[in-house]
Amino acid sequence: MRLYIDSADVKQIAYLNEYYPIAGVTTNPSIIVKENRPYIELIEDIREVIGEEKELFVQAIGDTAEEMMEEAKFITHQLSGNVMVKIPVTEEGIKAIKLLTANNIPTCATTIYTASQAFLAALAGAKYVAPYVNRIDNLTGNGVKVVSEIARIFTTNQLPTKILAASFKNVQQVHDVCLAGAYAITVGTDLIEKFITFPSTSTDVSVFKEQWQKVYGSDKTTLFNS
Ligand code: E4P
Repeated sequence: MRLYIDSADVKQIAYLNEYYPIAGVTTNPSIIVKENRPYIELIEDIREVIGEEKELFVQAIGDTAEEMMEEAKFITHQLSGNVMVKIPVTEEGIKAIKLLTANNIPTCATTIYTASQAFLAALAGAKYVAPYVNRIDNLTGNGVKVVSEIARIFTTNQLPTKILAASFKNVQQVHDVCLAGAYAITVGTDLIEKFITFPSTSTDVSVFKEQWQKVYGSDKTTLFNS
């Protein structure tokens, strides 16, 4: 299981990258425009924060396969390190994934709502597929079920494509896709911090400290000075 940050907020990325086991950063056009600054400069800043090894996902916005191909070449040329090009699973997108795969440019097939879309993208050579769990749920579908169907199809067909589950609004959805066979998850900054927050954990930690200080003195804040 790999954890990605679904954001382009450089400050938040720097903070989460320092504290959490992050595999990379995913963006999409909506995420990028939120930052309201020149996008190349923005993604270069993200690259600087996460380093060259971690994957950075940037989405194409062109309508045709040829446009997406040009965008992918441009982005992978502009940006150093490990770059994944996100391609929406339209008909042109599937063609673009085939062309990019033939040119050894790794892709993530995105805006996935059905297992059939994921299957086609995988056959076209996508390295990742990104099913939109919460958006599927909002259409009264079942995002977790779609992830588990994709996982079964990939296993049955021995497809090397990985599931990068995306679009989450709560920790339960993330937990459920982990059990359903996702290889990776990409999660907004606010939700990543919720993974670890649990009242009993903070209470236990405070009690341990209190008990320690009762015996060794209230100035003893670490094992070193006890
Ligand atoms: C991921 O890369 C997707 O673009 C993203 O998770 C979509 O999330 P949203 O449904 O919260 O906008």
